[in-house]
Amino acid sequence: MSTASVTGGPLPPLQKIPRQIAAVADYAQFARDRVDPAVWAWLDSGSGDGDSSRDNLQAFKRLRLTPRMLADVAGGNTRLELLCTTLEHPILVAPVGYQRLLHPEGELATALAASALRAAMVVSTQASVHLEQIASVAQSPLWFQLYVQPDRGFTRDLIQRAEAAGCQALVVTVDAPIQGLRNDEQRTGFALPPGIGAANLEGMAIAPPHQVRAGDDSLFDSPLLASAATWQDIEQVCRDSRLPVLVKGIMHPDDATQALACGAAGLVISNHGGRSLDGAPAPIDALPLIAARIDPVKVPLLVDGGVRRGTDVLKALALGARAVLVGRGCMHGLATAGAIGVAHVLHLLRTELEAAMVLTGCRDLAAIDRGVLWPPA
Ligand SMILES: Cc1cc2nc3c(=O)[nH]c(=O)nc-3n(C[C@H](O)[C@H](O)[C@H](O)COP(=O)(O)O)c2cc1C
Repeated sequence: MSTASVTGGPLPPLQKIPRQIAAVADYAQFARDRVDPAVWAWLDSGSGDGDSSRDNLQAFKRLRLTPRMLADVAGGNTRLELLCTTLEHPILVAPVGYQRLLHPEGELATALAASALRAAMVVSTQASVHLEQIASVAQSPLWFQLYVQPDRGFTRDLIQRAEAAGCQALVVTVDAPIQGLRNDEQRTGFALPPGIGAANLEGMAIAPPHQVRAGDDSLFDSPLLASAATWQDIEQVCRDSRLPVLVKGIMHPDDATQALACGAAGLVISNHGGRSLDGAPAPIDALPLIAARIDPVKVPLLVDGGVRRGTDVLKALALGARAVLVGRGCMHGLATAGAIGVAHVLHLLRTELEAAMVLTGCRDLAAIDRGVLWPPA
């Protein structure tokens, strides 16, 4: 059911959460009604036909959980140690660029919400607010997501800024050397409006994002590919930073091994929310293959793509993930109601995770393993 204004045009953000919103998925329609259709296409669509984007959600639904009875779970918790940081729960805010497209306060609202819910937040290289400003309001761990820039000196500057701002980890995203084939963005004519841009890239001569369109000159000749990151850059980033480095966008066990050989401290199994290679499998389906190669007890494996329920978080942890990242769910909350929307999304996910743990007999995260999945071994 649409909540759109009868006069047309996006509705203003809500000041409080209506009772019709009982689950993260309920936010989608409220968010859609509050942004321009082209912004909605940017936020919600996948690349190509959207097959991977849809499968990210379906893959979680294909997995089943095993109910367990009469376990003593009173006094349990969802706490974890992740890269020398204690987190209250394993739900992180994924890096999403240009959040001021969704709400005037953009990343600042998200950081406030993450702080209130004691969630770690990953700030995108393409954030629409300066990193230092975000860090000044954040009271929970901040990580910085790095896109290796064509100007490697600028890349080093970004790393130093992240360190100086107090970020506790770097997340180097490697799955988007070119922008995915965003047909829905093309159909709606999406473009960044004046005044909203990648605030932390100001001052850098950036190669324009290379949209893949039929009829273009060969992509292989584009300047963007000539300066795209390679494995040597991952080694270099690991050398240049005193922060732990996670590589985001890994889907193949061989790439996982190579990232660790380059010095990475962890991996984010991700297909960029289905926004890069359409046809890629869901990350939750890639996770067991990678966890079979890389010992997830020694190396933190995180996963994202399609997490909308606490049961999804439980399923990811059962398959070897240490934590999950949530992109669109949080952004639907942001577009709907700013900081309180994001906070509510995080609260719902954490509460649902706890409920799922109780019903599968897990008193803490250490108790979660493949045994919570159906069928029992
Ligand atoms: C609108 C949008 C912008 C994104 N921007 C970035 C980004 O700047 N850097 C990055 O590493 N990932 C980016 N991502 C991918 C997310 O970090 C994450 O991998 C993905 O959203 C997870 O899937 P989910 O949206 O189903 O939770 C973006 C995703 C969306 C939807």
